[in-house]
Amino acid sequence: MRLDVSLWPAWCRCSKSIRYVLHIFTIVVLVFLVLQYGIGLVLTRDHHVSWLNNASVRHDLDRDIDEVVRKWQATDRERNLSTNCPYLPPKLVGRLYINETAPSWEELERNHRELQPGGRFSPPNCKALHRVAIIIPYRDRESHLRVFFNHMHPLLQRQQLDYGIFVIEEAPGIKFNRAMLMNIGFVEASKLYNYQCFIFHDVDLLPEDDRNIYSCPDQPRHMSAAVNTLDYKLPYPEIYGGVSALKKEQFEKVNGFSNKFFGWGGEDDDMWVRINNAGLKVIRYPLDIARYTMLGHKKDEPNPERYKYLYSAEKRLKTDGINSLIYKRLDLQFRKTYTWVYVTFNEADVLAVSHLTIIGSKHTKL
Ligand SMILES: *[C@@H]1O[C@H](CO)[C@@H](O)[C@H](O)[C@H]1NC(C)=O
Ligand SMILES: *[C@@H]1O[C@H](CO)[C@@H](O)[C@H](O)[C@H]1NC(C)=O
Ligand SMILES: *[C@@H]1O[C@H](CO)[C@@H](O)[C@H](O)[C@H]1NC(C)=O
Repeated sequence: MRLDVSLWPAWCRCSKSIRYVLHIFTIVVLVFLVLQYGIGLVLTRDHHVSWLNNASVRHDLDRDIDEVVRKWQATDRERNLSTNCPYLPPKLVGRLYINETAPSWEELERNHRELQPGGRFSPPNCKALHRVAIIIPYRDRESHLRVFFNHMHPLLQRQQLDYGIFVIEEAPGIKFNRAMLMNIGFVEASKLYNYQCFIFHDVDLLPEDDRNIYSCPDQPRHMSAAVNTLDYKLPYPEIYGGVSALKKEQFEKVNGFSNKFFGWGGEDDDMWVRINNAGLKVIRYPLDIARYTMLGHKKDEPNPERYKYLYSAEKRLKTDGINSLIYKRLDLQFRKTYTWVYVTFNEADVLAVSHLTIIGSKHTKL
């Protein structure tokens, strides 16, 4: 085979053999890129196919889901509210008593008959200013859930929000991946309703003041700024863990959280980098309002790998996030006080998604 070496690289006033090498080099690079792109498509498609095509499960589940969403819409239509809720909710009380005693599920459900299926609420007499999804990454702290709902439902209702609480639970046998559960919560909640604002919430943190409004301002908000176990002080200025709020557009702009943090820690600091890279700035309520009580529990084992990914936070943000989310939804139930989403994923698959192999992939859609 003869290559016309005079064509490229013409700018190089070098010997024929060097041009020849440059030529070969270009071809190798092009072939490599094409292969990467192809492999990326094949890999990501493979992951999705196995569960997306399970038509029997999908069909039943979707029918139930549609029915509940239609009920929500019917309630809104019947109310036909034209006046907006006031900018400042009138029934706020300020500092709150934190009741750490867990009610039974029966008691909880009896006390909250105002909730629509899936724990959805919207103010009956005015049009809410904010449509908020509270996303709780969850694993095996069942009594904390009951304490949380006992505290949060009355608070969120006084704040006159149109809200839903989503508990995203990971199947057993996988390391906890808080960030990935939050990404999944964002995707699943968005499929059900046109939420504007997403609040990512650890289940063991309870706000001590109801002037801490659960809405999304123009910039991402770190909400749990003053936690009792940290003497109500910020341990470091870039802290972003615990409870945080982002608008839908902002979450999409930063590509959600990284999926790579298995085990405890790191994903929140990674998010801080994403937010700053997107030209956004984290804001907070004053420390005397952004107060939280942390429920007692054993401390989790920190993930020894958490710094490894942190150093590459900037490099990963375009390819590692909601656009590369690979998971399988095992169940979704509209329970009386919350919506339960049960999921699984494979650690090896998630970590194997590299910068190049996810070109062209989209997060999973039902
Ligand atoms: C589809 O889902 C059902 C119920 O979860 C399961 O038993 C079956 O193995 C699944 N089929 C495939 C092809 O994944
Ligand atoms: C809703 O209320 C508006 C006025 O507030 C009225 O014009 C409209 O007909 C009502 N729609 C329904 C479906 O009741
Ligand atoms: C705390 O909650 C428990 C369970 O609902 C309830 O029995 C108890 O009366 C509450 N305590 C206070 C002081 O409200």
